Amino acid sequence: MKVTVTAIKADIGSIGGHIRPSKRVIERVKEYVSTEGGGLLIDSYISSTGDDIAILMTHEQGEGSDKIHKLAWDAFKEGTEVAKEQGLYGAGQDLLKSAFSGNVKGLGPAVAEMEIEERKAEPFLFFAADKTDPGAYNLPLYLSFTDPMYCSGLLLNPQLSKGFKFVVMDVEHIKGDRVIELETPEEIYSLAALLRDNQRFVVEGIYSRHDQTQAVAVSTSRLHNIAGTYTGKDDPIMLVRVQGNFAATGEVLSTFSLGHYVAGFMRGSHNGPLMPVKINSSISYFDGPPIVSCHAFSVHNGKLTEPVDAFDHPFWDYIRNNVSAKALEIRRQGFSGPAMLPYGELEYGGIVEVMKKLDKRFEIRKAK
Ligand code: F6R
Ligand code: MG
Ligand code: MG
Repeated sequence: MKVTVTAIKADIGSIGGHIRPSKRVIERVKEYVSTEGGGLLIDSYISSTGDDIAILMTHEQGEGSDKIHKLAWDAFKEGTEVAKEQGLYGAGQDLLKSAFSGNVKGLGPAVAEMEIEERKAEPFLFFAADKTDPGAYNLPLYLSFTDPMYCSGLLLNPQLSKGFKFVVMDVEHIKGDRVIELETPEEIYSLAALLRDNQRFVVEGIYSRHDQTQAVAVSTSRLHNIAGTYTGKDDPIMLVRVQGNFAATGEVLSTFSLGHYVAGFMRGSHNGPLMPVKINSSISYFDGPPIVSCHAFSVHNGKLTEPVDAFDHPFWDYIRNNVSAKALEIRRQGFSGPAMLPYGELEYGGIVEVMKKLDKRFEIRKAK
C-alpha cells in the first residue's frame, strides 16, 4: 500500500519563556487534528520537543497536499488562540504569514514528508530537534549512511553496500530550491566538503541505490530566510526509514552519541552540543542545550503503533551527562570565538547597531 507520512512542526507559544508548550495548547491541536482530520487522515500523533509541537500524520494524499498542510496550519492557528488566552510566550511565533496559501513550506512551520510503498513491516524514526537548525542532522546522517565505523550494515549487508544517493540543499539560496545529488560511497569527499558547512548545505533526502527507495526526509526551512529577520531557530524534524536495505535503528541512533556541536542554543546565536533527550522534554540551561528527541514507530496500512521513546534508555543517561559536560565547557568561554556564531548567523540584530556606532569611532593612525 502507498502511504504518505507527513510531519509538520511549529512553535506556537510556550510556558515560562521558550521552554515547553502548555498541555491545553497541545490538547487543542490534538483535538482539532482528530476531529477535522477525520475523513482525511489514516492516523496521527501529536508530540512536543522543547517549545515546538509536531503533528505526525499518515494519509493517501501524497506529498505537498494542500488539504493536509491546511489541516496542520489550521490546527496550529487554533492552538495559537489557546496560547494567547493563556498568555503564553511567543504565541503563534512560527506562523509567519497571516494566511495559508496551499502549502506550509515558506510560511514558517517545518515539514518532513515521504510517500512510501509500505514494506511488509515498516519501521521508521521521527526525530524532532529544538534550539538548533536543519544542518544539525548533517553529521549523524553522513555517519549513518556512509561510514562503516558507525553503520556496520555497509560492510555486512550487500544491499547497503551499494550505497546511497544524498540530495543536498543550499538553504542560503532563497529564490527557488537549489539542490545537488551525490552518490556514496564514490562521492563521500564531495559530500563531506558540502556538509561541513551546516548553515548553508543541508541534507534534504537520502535514497537507497539498491532499489531507489527513500530512506530519509529532513525539513530544510530557514525561518530567517522566510521572515527576513530573527524569528527563532528553525528547529528541524526528520523522518528516517530503518532496517532491511536501510540503516538499522541502532546504527542511526548511535551517531547521536557524539553530542556534536551545532548552531543554536541561547538566542539562536551560539554553538552547543546536541543532547538526545526523552520525548516531550523541555528546555533549560542557557535556553538549551540544543536537544533532539526520537519516536520509533511501525506503520501498517497507514496505522501507527504507539511510539517507543528511542532515547529513553539507561545508555543515554551516560551520554546526556557527557553532553552536559561539553555544554559547560564551551559555555565557559562565553562570547569568545567558536562559542558564539559568526556575525552573519547571529539571530538578533542588536550587535549590528553596536558595530555601526563603533565603526564611526575607528581612526586610521597616521604614519610618523
Ligand atoms: C532560541 C530561543 C531563545 C530566545 C531567548 C530570547 O531559539 O528561542 O533562546 O532567543 O529566550 O527570547 P526573546 O527574544 O523572545 O526574549
Ligand atoms: Mg521558540
Ligand atoms: Mg523551538
